[in-house]
Amino acid sequence: MREALEQLQRNAEAELNAAGSQEELLALRVKYLGRKGSLTQVLRQLGNVPVDERRLLGQFANEIKEALSAKIDGALQAVASQDRGNQLLVERIDVTLPGRRFGLGGLHPITQVAREICDIFSGLGFEIAEGPEVEFDYYNFEALNIPKDHPARDMQDTFYIGGNVLLRTHTSPVQIRVMEKQKPPVRIVSPGKVYRPDSDVSHTPMFHQVEGLLVDRGITFGDLKGVLTYFVGQLFGRDVALRFRPSFFPFTEPSAEVDIRCVMCRGGGCRVCGQSGWLEILGSGMVDPEVFKNVGYDPEAVTGFAFGLGVERIAMLKYGISDIRMFFENDMRFLEQF
Ligand code: FA5
Ligand code: MG
Repeated sequence: MREALEQLQRNAEAELNAAGSQEELLALRVKYLGRKGSLTQVLRQLGNVPVDERRLLGQFANEIKEALSAKIDGALQAVASQDRGNQLLVERIDVTLPGRRFGLGGLHPITQVAREICDIFSGLGFEIAEGPEVEFDYYNFEALNIPKDHPARDMQDTFYIGGNVLLRTHTSPVQIRVMEKQKPPVRIVSPGKVYRPDSDVSHTPMFHQVEGLLVDRGITFGDLKGVLTYFVGQLFGRDVALRFRPSFFPFTEPSAEVDIRCVMCRGGGCRVCGQSGWLEILGSGMVDPEVFKNVGYDPEAVTGFAFGLGVERIAMLKYGISDIRMFFENDMRFLEQF
């Protein structure tokens, strides 16, 4: 029996020396020291050994067991720390590499274009005025000569907050708010968000306008044409084609819309301009005497013109963008180009 134990010890040590991985070492432990392991089997047979030999043999077997167990544990630890070392080699940090840069963020293209528009008018002496996006029916419609049952309301049907409170459909209510507070002369531009139930390649339910209003003695349609032609020239360059097209707004008389030659098709007709070759960028006209009466101005003493620009349309023309909805999809690959 002693010989059997010595043989077992030699085998175990040979196998232990050959074992290189954690899996092999764990398997060895099971093979020799497990519940059905070979050393365990030998220990079980001790009962059959004559009593006088039993004590010495038992001691010897236990020594082998302890020694083997300690060696396996030691080898397992060595393997584990070597693994950690290898891992550190792979994941080593190179402190000499330059740091990762933080993106600096920038202004949204629509904000940039709105500012550019306002800057051009500031240069002509217009001041910036602001008004609320959540507006009273009175300012959005009624004071602008659009009574409750007027058909012009259909084109600008809107999102109602309740009763007589709504999301403004245009920036024109700011005209009223400014004139209520201030005597003529008035010379303002007012940028901001407006809302309509629209959605296609050139319409979004939320978009931006810049309103303009100039009131003084002796202002004529010639002033309107001159200012808007100058503006378009500043924004797009002198030789861009534009046209004044007769139109109707309840709060201006006469009224005109301004179109710019479509930059996508250069006038040939495409889906952006609805095959017309022109893209509407603003509505304008001479302030209707009814509007002056609503704010307490004397229509016999002063005249004025007003306009409302679509900021997204202008940005589309400026940058050659064929679908207005791209401005609001928040795709960084698109936005980073501006
Ligand atoms: C108006 O909103 C008038 N308040 C403009 C005005 C002001 C006329 C002062 C006279 C005096 P209109 O509905 O045409 O007009 O809109 C003005 C511009 O906003 C359009 O020329 C177009 O460029 C832009 N626009 C209109 N609807 C949308 C939309 N859903 N999405 C993006 N741009 C739009
Ligand atoms: Mg229009």
